[in-house]
Amino acid sequence: MPLRTTTAFAPASIGNLSLGFDVLGAALRPIDGHPLGDSVQIAGAEHTTLTVSGRFADRLPGEPRDNIVLQCYDYFVEQLAKRGIGAHAVAIHLEKCLPIGSGLGSSAASIVAALHAFNAFYQAPFNQDQLLHMMGELEGRISGSVHYDNVAPAYLGGITLMTGDDQQPATILPAIQHWYWVVCYSGLSVSTSAARKILPSQYSREDLLTFGRQLGVFVDALYRGDALSAGRVMHDVVAEPWRKSLLPGFDDAREQCLALNGKAFGISGSGPTVFCVAEDLDDARNIQEYLDKQYVQNDDGFSHICTIPDVGATAEYSE
Ligand code: HSE
Repeated sequence: MPLRTTTAFAPASIGNLSLGFDVLGAALRPIDGHPLGDSVQIAGAEHTTLTVSGRFADRLPGEPRDNIVLQCYDYFVEQLAKRGIGAHAVAIHLEKCLPIGSGLGSSAASIVAALHAFNAFYQAPFNQDQLLHMMGELEGRISGSVHYDNVAPAYLGGITLMTGDDQQPATILPAIQHWYWVVCYSGLSVSTSAARKILPSQYSREDLLTFGRQLGVFVDALYRGDALSAGRVMHDVVAEPWRKSLLPGFDDAREQCLALNGKAFGISGSGPTVFCVAEDLDDARNIQEYLDKQYVQNDDGFSHICTIPDVGATAEYSE
């Protein structure tokens, strides 16, 4: 059967959700239908090539070999070879719509779209958990440590909880259906690797207990559909106290967004994007308007009101 041209899309995501450093993440879908994510197209070719387009394509490395999508291809081909499957030359096209170093899971979206597209192109030699494990490995190469809290939601959709188990790296939690997630990217760039290096290597017993208690309460609240309890425990004792120094205007933004009826506010992944949960669309619009005026720093910045999609990455074939 000839291999067909395949295009995959992977959405933006929020890592950590404040309370779940490296273990919680959520996929994002703007309510206005804007496709907030990256796309990768694969087609059979004489030679393997990479082309790029999209709003943030000009921020990618100039040398294609340094692009994570080509690194994904090399890694995927290695994994195919381990199964005795030969690879084809392919023309790869990356549509880079997420800003790099934004905290919206930009590298994860490219990795997930690429590996999902390769897997679909080769007619699914890897199952979902195997592919997710590969996505985590690639993300680790970029950020300096393997963490799944962007690749898992970008691939699977929903709110994901990382298990620490390579056989099934993530499980999907129920989302609070009526929550709106306002996300605002300031336009600055923060490297995940640098934002991890500023964190302490040890935490107090008090923080340890807060982290564990909040995570337990949050998961229980999601299963009971208890929005009040879920929102109340969304506090970050692991990263935000240190990282917010990298985010101009963060404390003011939190204070104002909560005053505008936000139910929880925090850093998306390693920032500088922030998120605010609202229960009412009018509140979400007021929060978005405030953040657009006060948190966005330059023309690269933007905001969206999102919900959490049940579906993560998608793939489709064309002739
Ligand atoms: N959990 C990661 C971090 C998300 O906060 O460093 C960023 O990729």
